[in-house]
Amino acid sequence: MSDKIAKLSIGNDSWELPIQTGVIGPDVIDIASMYKQTGKFTYDPGFTSTASCESKITYIDGDLGTLLYRGYPIEQLAEHGDFLETCYLLLYGELPTPAQKTDFDLRVTRHTMLHEQMQTLYRGFRRDAHPMAIMVGVVGALSAFYHDSTDISDPHQRMIASLRMVAKMPTIAAMAYKYSIGQPFVYPKNEMDYASNFLNMCFAVPAEQYKVNPVLARAMDRIFTLHADHEQNASTSTVRLAGSSGANPFACIAAGIACLWGPAHGGANEAALNMLHEIGSVENIPEYIRRAKDKNDPFRLMGFGHRVYKNYDPRARIMQKTCHEVLNELGIKDDPALEVAMELEKIALNDEYFVSKKLYPNIDFYSGITLRALGFPAEMFTVLFSVARTVGWIAQWKEMVEDPSQKIGRPRQLYTGSDKRDYVTIGQR
Ligand code: CMC
Repeated sequence: MSDKIAKLSIGNDSWELPIQTGVIGPDVIDIASMYKQTGKFTYDPGFTSTASCESKITYIDGDLGTLLYRGYPIEQLAEHGDFLETCYLLLYGELPTPAQKTDFDLRVTRHTMLHEQMQTLYRGFRRDAHPMAIMVGVVGALSAFYHDSTDISDPHQRMIASLRMVAKMPTIAAMAYKYSIGQPFVYPKNEMDYASNFLNMCFAVPAEQYKVNPVLARAMDRIFTLHADHEQNASTSTVRLAGSSGANPFACIAAGIACLWGPAHGGANEAALNMLHEIGSVENIPEYIRRAKDKNDPFRLMGFGHRVYKNYDPRARIMQKTCHEVLNELGIKDDPALEVAMELEKIALNDEYFVSKKLYPNIDFYSGITLRALGFPAEMFTVLFSVARTVGWIAQWKEMVEDPSQKIGRPRQLYTGSDKRDYVTIGQR
């Protein structure tokens, strides 16, 4: 707490509100006592100026284009570490020693299997169900299968639930995919690393040998690392809000998955790839740029712009590199979507409209092309995002539950509906 004070005056009255200073980032005016003091609420739809919590996990500087997990730049973690190391870091706050890493990998690996009865649950879905619909349902249902890790007041149960979520999400996601294409489920193989195991569960079939390509597994692992956390975004805030009532972690993560599904959030990579296909070739780009700039046209360049980044999204740079690595490995020389993406990026980055509004490519701009090259259909893109983000959701949920000052989240409103009025019986209306 700093000794800086903000002064609020309304008419002849004035009040003092404390200002809190974080390690980095803007100071915050602490308005927790404001209603008591002034009888007034603040109004900030979309939380554009409101810090909803205190957190020690992830920091973004949107102007500089910086993303830090527990202080470590995303570029360094993606380049030198693996996803499970990032999971450890997010959950425990420090990078693991070699012994801690081995132990953590083993503990996650031991939880990869799913209760066998859950297969029946999958079979209840229509074959053409969107895999995200299956994810919301199946993850929510975990609390019906793992009763022994739903007591959130028990630190041991919280940790077991956390490990279970990180370990089982790839299995759940791969099963959603297999179900949607009518192939048999593939069980996890614990001698494989996290990303290879996931690719194997998605692409292996009992009829023939499937060998995971290590370059593609490394790319998958990096994609997981890039998406692992992103501080108080919409789905994470949803998880925190759901968890603030004391709901069990599986139910909270299911709420996060539901929020992630939207096209302005996790659905953007699917939308970005569809857009690149729709543009089709480089000659059509100017027409789409014109439409994106037209106030009367709802069209937006998908994969461009971000609520927080007003600079190049640091994840987008790594994603672009990963995209090239995957296409090279697979010998895809002329991918029309990649060609359109590169040209569109070049044009938009030099266009006054995008420059003045600080609209840069975000992570989703190149992730769709990469995921499709890895063999995933577009409906699976957001599912993969949810697999990766689970550790962030869980780390944020744990941080909230373990904070002694935590309260149920309960925003206020500016009411603009009818004033009080008397009920009119149906025959008299
Ligand atoms: N194309 C064209 N114009 C845009 C775009 C875009 N992609 N994004 C923002 N703008 C314009 C917008 O019209 C507005 O103009 P004006 O000030 O003249 O009204 C201005 O830029 C500010 O936009 P905003 O909607 O107020 O900004 P926001 O912070 O509320 O929205 C966003 C952020 C990500 C929802 C938005 O940029 C967008 O819709 N982008 C496309 C979808 C997308 O790529 N989403 C992925 C986000 S990254 C992954 C994740 O977090 O899940």
